[in-house]
Amino acid sequence: MTVTIVGSQLGDEGKGGVVDLWGDAADVVARYQGGDNAGHTVVEGGTEYKLSLVPSGAVRGKVGVLGNGCVVNPATLFEEIDDLRDRGLDPDVRVARRAHVIFPYHRVLDGIEEEAKSDSDSEVGTTGRGIGPTYEDKAGRRGVRVGDLLDPDVLREKLEYVVPQKQRLAEEVFGVETGEEFDIASLYEEYRRYGERLAEEDMAVDAGEFLADRLADGENVMFEGAQGTLIDIDHGNYPYVTSSNPTAGGAATGTGLSPGVVGGGEVVGIVKAYLTRVGSGPLPTELGGVVGDTPGYDEQGEGENEELATYIREEGGEYGTVTGRPRRVGWLDVPMLRHAARANGFTGIAVNHIDVLAGLDEVKVGHSYDLDGEEVFTIPATTERWAACEPNYRTFEGWEDTDWGRVAEEGYDAVPENARAYLEYVSEEVDADVYAVGVGPDREESVVVENPFE
Ligand code: GDP
Ligand code: IMO
Ligand code: MG
Repeated sequence: MTVTIVGSQLGDEGKGGVVDLWGDAADVVARYQGGDNAGHTVVEGGTEYKLSLVPSGAVRGKVGVLGNGCVVNPATLFEEIDDLRDRGLDPDVRVARRAHVIFPYHRVLDGIEEEAKSDSDSEVGTTGRGIGPTYEDKAGRRGVRVGDLLDPDVLREKLEYVVPQKQRLAEEVFGVETGEEFDIASLYEEYRRYGERLAEEDMAVDAGEFLADRLADGENVMFEGAQGTLIDIDHGNYPYVTSSNPTAGGAATGTGLSPGVVGGGEVVGIVKAYLTRVGSGPLPTELGGVVGDTPGYDEQGEGENEELATYIREEGGEYGTVTGRPRRVGWLDVPMLRHAARANGFTGIAVNHIDVLAGLDEVKVGHSYDLDGEEVFTIPATTERWAACEPNYRTFEGWEDTDWGRVAEEGYDAVPENARAYLEYVSEEVDADVYAVGVGPDREESVVVENPFE
């Protein structure tokens, strides 16, 4: 069977930890979109792994697949694999031949576009990993795919077509001087070698075929979504989004398995008990922004409750896994979760970070919004309309800090009563059962209510 793990908010909900939590029952863990913009954390017995491209199942020794929907920077992939090997793991990663390749010029163009947008305060706040420009080339039918790295003649031909275009774009449209990132000969040499390593280590696969064969053999496959529903290119708050589909449908298109396979399994929404966001865009329930990080949305609560935001940021260690940027913090946004539940079809949810909120007198949620004098329960389609939403808050009594390790051991009934009331409210609003509760970063600090593989 399959279990799909999807971020229900704006990324960093603790997806990596949940993949690891249930990963024991999985044989294969596949990523279906995104690239090294992701930063997934697994903590096992105090040892922390931060994974960008290698699927989080690697910590438990599971086979990892980067599906066709991913964009792969081979430099960071091999660096991560080597690093994990140095740390005593033995990652077995297969990469779809259909996945697109991130080149150094994509990263440069990512930075150039952000810089250009910053003149009008409209930058997205990307991770700078070249994600957008690579998906642009994919859609523009000029991308280089993993399969092309294995065929030097094809690689050279494609680079000869695309690189001069990119160079002119940088120089003539944006007026930026280019360097070796646009040098065909050196790109060819470097990427040809990556192709050789992919071949030597037998890493290139037809992802759909590979996964279908494993499922036919009765194995369990987990799909590890990167990012989250609200930064999905279609269902997120465009243009403050990433360039792929983290939502559950992406697990089908991004692996080469059918929607029936994905929908026939479980789809688990990962929910952070509050809200964080790195990068720009509105955030109606924001507690306090990071000054300068909300272009165009300065009125969106920045500074309103900075002290509380800072408290939660420090308690939760809310700094970007990839870029180290401080994350913006807000109360749970329930219209956002209803939107995510519909777009993904959650069969269950995992709610993380309830330990971080412990000790507060009260915990609020944005239950609905006021928009033009009307009460609305889900997210409007345009970012401008979303920015105009005023949350209607509900207040829950806070819960005490406690020995969370003991809670994890004893199970759901040991979760403080007020936290259970909060969890049950969320579960009802998204119409999905709580499968797990995160009470700390470590694998052992999770309350498992139900294992979706069982
Ligand atoms: P991902 O991108 O969704 O995999 O999430 P990240 O790894 O970027 O960010 C989640 C952070 O919260 C990581 O540092 C995790 O170790 C940590 N974390 C995950 N679940 C919990 C939890 O229940 N409580 C606490 N305190 N930390 C958690
Ligand atoms: P994980 O998988 C949080 C955000 C960036 C930016 C926007 C576009 O760890 O949850 P991009 O570099 O993708 O073009 O940036 O998306 N973003 C993430 N935010 N977690 C992530 O991944 C993210 N990946 C991208 O901050 O706002
Ligand atoms: Mg992350």
